[in-house]
Amino acid sequence: MLLSQILVSCKGLISLFLNLCCYYPCENSGVCVRFGTDGYQCDCTRTGFHGENCTVPEFWTWIRLMLKPNPSFVHYLLTNFQWFWDLLNNTFLRDIVMRFVLTSRSNLIPSPPTYNTKYGYLSWEAYYNLSYYTRLLPPVPEDCPLPMGTKGEKTDSPDPKVLARRFFKRKTFRPDPQGTNLMFAFMAQHFTHQFFKTNNKTEKGFTKALGHGVDASNIYGDTLERQHHLRLHKDGKLKYQLVGGEVYPPTVSYAPVYMKYPEAHPPEQKLAIGHELFGILPGLTLYATLWLREHNRVCDILKAEHPTWDDEQLFQTARLIIIGTEFSNS
Ligand SMILES: *[C@@H]1O[C@H](CO)[C@@H](O)[C@H](O)[C@H]1NC(C)=O
Ligand SMILES: *[C@@H]1O[C@H](CO)[C@@H](O)[C@H](O)[C@H]1NC(C)=O
Ligand SMILES: *[C@@H]1O[C@H](CO)[C@@H](O)[C@H](O)[C@H]1NC(C)=O
Ligand SMILES: *[C@@H]1O[C@H](CO)[C@@H](O)[C@H](O)[C@H]1NC(C)=O
Repeated sequence: MLLSQILVSCKGLISLFLNLCCYYPCENSGVCVRFGTDGYQCDCTRTGFHGENCTVPEFWTWIRLMLKPNPSFVHYLLTNFQWFWDLLNNTFLRDIVMRFVLTSRSNLIPSPPTYNTKYGYLSWEAYYNLSYYTRLLPPVPEDCPLPMGTKGEKTDSPDPKVLARRFFKRKTFRPDPQGTNLMFAFMAQHFTHQFFKTNNKTEKGFTKALGHGVDASNIYGDTLERQHHLRLHKDGKLKYQLVGGEVYPPTVSYAPVYMKYPEAHPPEQKLAIGHELFGILPGLTLYATLWLREHNRVCDILKAEHPTWDDEQLFQTARLIIIGTEFSNS
């Protein structure tokens, strides 16, 4: 019995101390893979580096690193030489530079994704099963001695309520130094909730937003059925109601879609919006109202220019325009 106890605690020690991936040895986004019982190897595929810990630059990486200006120099360039930026903005150079900026930024995000909420190693599921949220950094291996791997303190995560009160609660009003306000935060929230939609029916880590992008499902609903309930089916427009002569989202009795409101909320005050949670916060309902008005306004213009188009073509074209507008607004 004693021997088996010793063996069990030895096994505990091995898994406690010998997972070297807990030290995050792989640099430059290399993937740490355990080897044997107490070894590891770094998978440096497509990182531009090689070597035991993906620290040795390949030739082109080396060239790139040599030529890469430091951040303060870049900042200086970007905030001076107005004549140069005007030249760039007003010639064919603009398209070339924008293409370069877009592709180089999007290359920072691995696609197909390396990890997701379930898999901390390369897998087919992370590539194929779009219901998972993907992640950029690997999870902390489960058998690490401390919550952050080998670093940090041996405590549990702090209570979010304590953190929020300590860092975010304000006793006096302080205007934002850059002149922004709550509208901006609501715009961002309205925007991101079209692609960050945690599935409430499954365990954590799954998204319902299979469009994975700016598809305006926050305005038109994430299913065809929801979209049809929200549509007027006339002139491409969305359903609406008039309150004091102004256009607002329709009630759920007129557009019967599921909306999550506090229990006691009277049904005649529940508004039907693309995203089922947007009735909860006034700022989100505000933006939903703006986009509804904008969609119907675009429909009016389209119909005046294309009197032969039917409801479907007007709706589909207006939606494309709204998606473009939503994207560029952000
Ligand atoms: C790789 O990282 C490990 C752990 O941090 C270190 O012991 C080892 O010396 C490193 N190897 C090289 C070649 O730098
Ligand atoms: C770039 O040019 C466009 C018109 O082509 C103009 O609307 C925009 O304000 C210019 N941007 C800057 C930063 O000058
Ligand atoms: C994605 O993974 C979840 C959980 O394993 C599973 O329920 C779902 O059916 C998978 N979806 C696809 C398209 O394979
Ligand atoms: C989850 O969302 C669905 C509609 O998308 C709704 O019918 C259901 O009541 C919601 N469940 C919870 C626990 O909020």
